[in-house]
Amino acid sequence: MPEILAADDHLMKLSGINAVSLGIFAWAAYEPSEGNYQFGWLDERIEALHRNGIQIFLATPSGGKPAWLARKYPEIRRVNAEGRREPQQERHNFCYTSPIYREKLRAINTKLAKRYAAHPAVIGWHISNEYSGITRGATECYCPQCFKAFQDWLKQRYTDLETLNRTWWSRFWSKHFTAWEQIEFIDADIHGMVIDWKRFVTARTIDFMLAEIDAVHQYEPKLPTTTNLMGDFQLLDNAKLAAHVDFISWDAYPTWHKDSDESEQACWTAFHHDRYRSIKGGQPFLMLESTPSGTNWWPVCRSKRPGMHALSSVQAIAHGSEGVLYFQWRQSRGSSEKFHGAVVSHAGHENTRTFRDVQETSALLGKLDGIPGTSVKPDVAVLYDAENAWAIESAQGPRNRDKNYLETVREHHRQFWLQSVPVDIIDSEASFASYRLLVCPMLYMVKKGVAERLRTFAEQGGTLVFTYLSGLVDESDLCFLGGFPGPLRELCGLWVEENDTLWDHGAMRICPEEANDLELSGTYQARHYADILHLEGAETLATYGDDFYAGQPALTRNRIGKGEVYYVASRNDERFLADFFSGLTARAAISPALAAKLPTGVTATLRGDGNTTHVFIMNFTHVSKKIDLVETTWKDVLTGEHAPQAFELPPLGYKILTHHAPIS
Ligand code: GAL
Repeated sequence: MPEILAADDHLMKLSGINAVSLGIFAWAAYEPSEGNYQFGWLDERIEALHRNGIQIFLATPSGGKPAWLARKYPEIRRVNAEGRREPQQERHNFCYTSPIYREKLRAINTKLAKRYAAHPAVIGWHISNEYSGITRGATECYCPQCFKAFQDWLKQRYTDLETLNRTWWSRFWSKHFTAWEQIEFIDADIHGMVIDWKRFVTARTIDFMLAEIDAVHQYEPKLPTTTNLMGDFQLLDNAKLAAHVDFISWDAYPTWHKDSDESEQACWTAFHHDRYRSIKGGQPFLMLESTPSGTNWWPVCRSKRPGMHALSSVQAIAHGSEGVLYFQWRQSRGSSEKFHGAVVSHAGHENTRTFRDVQETSALLGKLDGIPGTSVKPDVAVLYDAENAWAIESAQGPRNRDKNYLETVREHHRQFWLQSVPVDIIDSEASFASYRLLVCPMLYMVKKGVAERLRTFAEQGGTLVFTYLSGLVDESDLCFLGGFPGPLRELCGLWVEENDTLWDHGAMRICPEEANDLELSGTYQARHYADILHLEGAETLATYGDDFYAGQPALTRNRIGKGEVYYVASRNDERFLADFFSGLTARAAISPALAAKLPTGVTATLRGDGNTTHVFIMNFTHVSKKIDLVETTWKDVLTGEHAPQAFELPPLGYKILTHHAPIS
């Protein structure tokens, strides 16, 4: 409707928004019937945005398939794991192998690129939307074309069926394959197959994405590309996708105001900011979606309380985002997202609290000169590995309930967030060289070469932490023979004889050695997992307090070269994690973002470059907090004034301070 678009132009200028992502699901509007392309409306929109000084990420439209396409070419619709082709429904659920989908998409992507890539307002490509996608139906495609591609992928990987059967251990229960064509289903009991299938789905998705990028890069091949990744989703190995785009972006939807203080959500969000920043070597990323108010899919869709929008936006910048983008600009009048938060509500004007919040955030971002392009340089990394996640998930035993790999990684990350120690989240294929402390929770699968690289890290002075459920299988998901933790055994200086697990009611005491140098004190509680181990060079720092292995080691340290390797044999309570990690950071002289001790619920992080450091102090509670900076070399970025040594941080308040010293 022209009057709505005219109002949008006015409101967008008023909101201070200076970048949009455009055309994400617009295929049916670009091509309402086969070969009938309609770009007039987009020409007009791009010109209007350009006139307003708004920059554009132009999206490729593969996330939503038009009805005519789905009806004429049923093969583009995904087949689910039960072999049923899905009806035309939802979005993101196209077959990523289908040649016809790729052909039609290439045609439209080529036209978009030819027409707009050189437009001065277009600054990048937003490729597709949330590959693998949020869909109630099939998250992967099990159609015959995908299985044919899977067979080809397997042939490349294993050359012959004998190698494949041996690697998958498929003679067990007589499941081995005698012809490639027999591989036309996924058997949950053949774990190697399950993991290879997921690797293949990632590879297929990358292949699909590269075809999209190739099409748009026929014109202006240097125009940067991104694709938006998703919070907790573990369907794809995002780190592998990351290698093929110019910059990382992700969609952040924390459930603010679920709890009385916001720390849990703040920590969840910080984890993903850290994770997505890290998967491309720590370069700045973009928060491509966030809600300016509430969402329509949380169980309870609360509005952002006053102050929350600015704070959550500052948090994204603090962790390395180059900006704050919103889903959605204006509430769509009908369909599934009509009640999702938007900058412009159904009321259609600027006189709303949300709109004012957005204006305030735009003004704030406008004052952050000197921050874009800078990065966070943590000394600490916590390891999260997608293939390890799949392997733990598909395993039957040693404990089937509450495996909680991702949650466990987050619990470990949380300790650093609480201490305001900057941290990266990397996978086992990333470089470890820039870190001093590397925490590897539940490293069940140890891929080829990883143990050697970990050893080098320790020898050169790094501190390594391993936990229960580590070093059980290789990258084919075959158990290591000769004693766990397999290739980590020498490094840890111990042999895990049994991977015991506990019922939920079976908590066990963990008793630190007296006068230990990590200042562990009192007794801690272990639950779920408890490895029974023998020392082979490591020293004991704590022992089990119960059961037939009472008195045996529960926490150990091994010295390797100039470094130290810890093994935490049981899943311990939060108090243990807090004491253990503050002991470790003190021992390794790892400093927090600020020397000052911050009150509970307040956290700080750093961004900087070779000349300047910025510190972001954020209060995720609903009460004001007293901050004492101890030192006063800082300048307040927003006021331009010297920062006082002591000040009050209001509820959900923040301060951005800077000084001229390189980030260290
Ligand atoms: C994202 C998606 C958007 C929108 C949003 C709602 O995952 O990319 O298109 O649906 O969720 O929160």
